[in-house]
Amino acid sequence: MIINGKKFAQNLKNNIKREIKFLKIKKKIVPGLTVILIGNNTPSEIYVRNKEISAQEVGINSKVLRFKNSITEKKLISIIHNLNNDKKVHGILVQLPLPQHINGSKIVEEINPNKDVDGFHPINVGNLSSGKDSLVPCTPLGCYLMIKSIKKDLTGLNALIIGRSNLNGKPMAQLLLKENCTVTISHSKTRNLKELCKKADIVFAAVGKPNFVKGNWVKKGSIVIDVGINRINHKNGYKIVGDVDFKSVVKKAKAITPVPGGVGPVTIACLLSNTLKAFKNN
Ligand code: GUN
Repeated sequence: MIINGKKFAQNLKNNIKREIKFLKIKKKIVPGLTVILIGNNTPSEIYVRNKEISAQEVGINSKVLRFKNSITEKKLISIIHNLNNDKKVHGILVQLPLPQHINGSKIVEEINPNKDVDGFHPINVGNLSSGKDSLVPCTPLGCYLMIKSIKKDLTGLNALIIGRSNLNGKPMAQLLLKENCTVTISHSKTRNLKELCKKADIVFAAVGKPNFVKGNWVKKGSIVIDVGINRINHKNGYKIVGDVDFKSVVKKAKAITPVPGGVGPVTIACLLSNTLKAFKNN
C-alpha cells in the first residue's frame, strides 16, 4: 500500500475547515497564523507559500511577514513579542533556516509556547517528552497520524528512527514511545543499521541521504515512513527523492509513504491543526 499523503492531508484539512466554519458562525472569530520569513532562500519561499495557501483554504487568517537577511536579532525578537501580545494571532512560525547572525534556538524561546505551532519551544519539547499535552512538531505529528491510520494498536512493535534531529527523529521517538513501541533511535554513528532495520516493524527515515534505506534492509510487512526531501541530478535536470529507495522497499513494506506526495502535504495539514489547537487552548 502506498500512502497517499495528498488525500490524507485533504481529509485532515476538510475536518479543520468544518470546525473553523463553525467557529466563525458561532463565535465570530477565526484562528490566526503568522509566518515569519527571512531572506530569499528558495525552498523556504516555496514552503511558506504552500503553508499560506493551505491556511487560507481552511479559513485560517494567515499572514506572512517577510524581512531582509540583514534584520537584527533584536528587531526579530521585538516582532515576536508583538505577535505574542496580539490577540488575533494564535500561531507563530519562524521559518528555518535563519541567517547565520541569528541564534535560532534563542528565537524559538522568545515565542509564547502556547503559540508555538512548530512545537519547537523547550516547554513543548519537555511536555511531549513527559507525556503531557503539548504542541507537537508538524512532520512527526503527521507521520504518527498516518501510522495510526494503518495500524491502531502499536503496542510492542519495534520502531526504528533513523536520524536524531530535534525537528523529526526525537519527537517521533516520543510519540511512538507513548504508543508503547520499543523505540530505537539510530544516527550517523550507529553500527549495524541494516541489522536493526531488518528487525523493525516501523521505519522512520529522516537522515537527508537520498535512497539510503534499501529493500534488503526492510522486514516484510513493515510500515515505512520517508521524511527525506533530497534533490538529485536526473537526466538533464534534477528530481526529488526521499531517504528510502522506494523502488526496492515498496516490494517489502506493508505501507510506505512516497516522495513527493507522502509526508510533505500531511506536515502542512498538521500545521493547520496545530494552529486550531493553539486557538482552542487560548
Ligand atoms: N524549515 C523546514 N522545515 C521547517 C519546519 O517544520 N518549521 C520551520 N519553522 N521551518 C522549517
